[in-house]
Amino acid sequence: MPTTPTAEDKSAATAQERREAVTLVDHRTGKSYDLPVSNGTIRAIDLREVKTGPEDFGLMSYDPAFMNTASCRSQITFIDGDRGILRYRGYPIEQLAERSSYLEVAYLLLHGELPTKSEYDEWVHNITFHTMIHESLKKFMDGFNHDAHPMGMLIATVGAMSTFYPGARDIHSASDRTKQIHRLIAKMPTLAAFAYRHSMGMPYVYPDNDFSYTGNFLNMLFRIPSSSWKPDPVLVRALDVLFILHADHEQNCGTHVMRGIGSSHTDPYSAVAGAAAALYGPLHGGANEEVLKMLQEIGTVSRIPAFIEEVKNGKGEKRLMGFGHRVYKNFDPRATIIKRIADEVFAVTGRNPLLDVAIELERIALQDDYFIKRRLYPNVDFYSGLIYEAIGIPTAAFTVLFAIPRVSGWLAQWQEMLEDPEQKIARPRQIYTGPKERSFVPIESR
Ligand code: ACO
Repeated sequence: MPTTPTAEDKSAATAQERREAVTLVDHRTGKSYDLPVSNGTIRAIDLREVKTGPEDFGLMSYDPAFMNTASCRSQITFIDGDRGILRYRGYPIEQLAERSSYLEVAYLLLHGELPTKSEYDEWVHNITFHTMIHESLKKFMDGFNHDAHPMGMLIATVGAMSTFYPGARDIHSASDRTKQIHRLIAKMPTLAAFAYRHSMGMPYVYPDNDFSYTGNFLNMLFRIPSSSWKPDPVLVRALDVLFILHADHEQNCGTHVMRGIGSSHTDPYSAVAGAAAALYGPLHGGANEEVLKMLQEIGTVSRIPAFIEEVKNGKGEKRLMGFGHRVYKNFDPRATIIKRIADEVFAVTGRNPLLDVAIELERIALQDDYFIKRRLYPNVDFYSGLIYEAIGIPTAAFTVLFAIPRVSGWLAQWQEMLEDPEQKIARPRQIYTGPKERSFVPIESR
């Protein structure tokens, strides 16, 4: 039976509440505020209560580049950057890389649970039977210059896809969303392969439903029509594992863009185009392309010390590409797995001579005070490019191989955002530092 709380109960409750709060003292006014703490965070909106007077807008937090701001609650991916932990929906990345497949992981990211056998079969069927692209989209791709960057082509074409599926704008319908999710995951490899074939001046190879997801992709990339070429199963599996490793990475730059664009309720094709554009940058997914260029520039092991000195003396202008991460400050678990896959791939393709440069570069950098002090370690992009090159993928297409699997993560994050009642259109605040009000001066008087 409920009893009326005594004064003692109330003060115990208050003490408990205070333990889950921080006290902020505003020395401008002498007032203090208890801000509730939940999941190790305070709500930035609570700061608004901190005012110097009724006309004051209230306190804001200033956090350029979101160094210390959580923008959402998410159940998808967990990262502990200090301990080098990455889990999708609770499953360690090492176990998924060892025992799962990319399409199973994509299902897991989007649905929250691993599929049963029948759910998996249906999922694979739905993806496999959406791999064809509209012939007009193919013509659209024909319009690109022969030397167009594959990422530029991918971004533009995936954006153009929204015009082919007007139903995609109905983002509040779960069944419509599912249709677009199937299409996007299914068609990204086709767009990527067609972009590559276009740049090579080679005829497109249509999807073949007899192959797996990555097998089909390699087939569309490399099969010479009329030949009986088949993708090597070791390379198919290696690519599948790489796709698992790249599938999601919580609130990184591209995912943040996906959620940001999606928050205005635009269609998922347009949002994916934006997220892919963010990924294109050399500080993000574009780093894998830059790593290979860097290794080629260094060329031989003997030139590594001079290169490292250039980086250290470059005052941040020149970076060791594939090193450093905003979150991982110990090691990137994906890089560890990728190093192992590299050995398996090179056993089939022959050893890439730049691997020696990469290994020695890593060894020297990990012993150097500059990198130790800044906690800079190899990230996912450091070794992935060497594998892509060994498989025969041109350097300019590396980031495309990142974008294909990341689509499942982007879509999972997009869905989660749409279903989160706390989310609204993303709209940060600013600190205005421009001129105060001034009067317009006609041009002849300036
Ligand atoms: N080489 C040399 N110095 C570096 C590197 C690097 N790769 N990365 C960071 N630093 C230095 C910075 O110059 C800075 O030094 P300072 O304190 O003397 O000014 C310090 O380390 C901190 O760097 P920030 O740029 O503040 O770190 P931030 O967390 O913002 O950047 C980033 C992370 C963008 C990944 C950065 O490490 C970088 O540019 N790495 C190279 C590009 C790369 O590999 N990107 C892929 C990341 S993984 C991904 O996105 C998929």
